[in-house]
Amino acid sequence: MRIVLLGPPGAGKGTQAASIVKKYKIPHISTGDIFRKNIKEKTALGNKAKEYIDKGALVPDDIVVAIVEDRLTKEDCKHGFMLDGFPRTVAQAQALDEKLQNLSINLDKVVNIEVPKEELIERAVGRRICKECGKTYHIKFNPPAKEGVCGKCGEELYQRKDDIKETVSKRIEIYLQETKPLINYYEKQKILIKVNGEQDIDKVFSDIVNALGSKI
Ligand code: AP5
Ligand code: MG
Ligand code: ZN
Repeated sequence: MRIVLLGPPGAGKGTQAASIVKKYKIPHISTGDIFRKNIKEKTALGNKAKEYIDKGALVPDDIVVAIVEDRLTKEDCKHGFMLDGFPRTVAQAQALDEKLQNLSINLDKVVNIEVPKEELIERAVGRRICKECGKTYHIKFNPPAKEGVCGKCGEELYQRKDDIKETVSKRIEIYLQETKPLINYYEKQKILIKVNGEQDIDKVFSDIVNALGSKI
């Protein structure tokens, strides 16, 4: 299964991705996670990406495209993959189409998680992530059993630097300008699935699985 997860910041892409990759046994490729790992490790890529991410801006297309193109040629992507947060501009989508064509493969589905703008800010601002294992929580909608502590590995939770209200608003604006046009782009290719993201996390997941069907 080759899937793209689309949706505005805070829609629940990462949350759903964790369950989808488990079910379909495919690698989870999140460009945001790749950048955050590099920022943490203070690599050259991390230092460059940080300039954009902390402001809520997009990292330039050429940088992101090169990373994803390289990642897709790895062995574990042979039987499928799930892209989360990529593509994010029409130029990235075109570059992806070209790369897949070169590899003689195509996307099976693009899942668009729909959540109204008003709810996105609350979701992002209340998000907490485990420093160690990356599991995502929400202080109100999906709290850990013990405040500030990961229920999976016992480590401390942190808040993303770009999850303050002003930066989230900026990210949503950029989403509307740059990324939303991809809905139409994939609708034209007849591979778009729309899922109501304003439901319980488990219900969103079962809607996605039903829409994807049984092909693995
Ligand atoms: P990225 O990390 O991809 O951030 P994003 O797209 O803004 O999306 P988020 O990760 O914020 O949200 P999500 O949809 O994953 O939601 P989550 O599941 O965590 O990108 C970060 C930055 O990197 C970008 O701003 C950009 O600078 C750069 N970048 C990345 N990719 C790029 C690209 N391709 N090109 C250029 N730049 C790029 O859920 C959010 C919260 O809601 C959580 O707390 C969760 O517990 C809660 N929640 C989830 N589902 C539900 C539900 N159903 N009900 C209630 N709460 C829920
Ligand atoms: Mg995410
Ligand atoms: Zn953890």
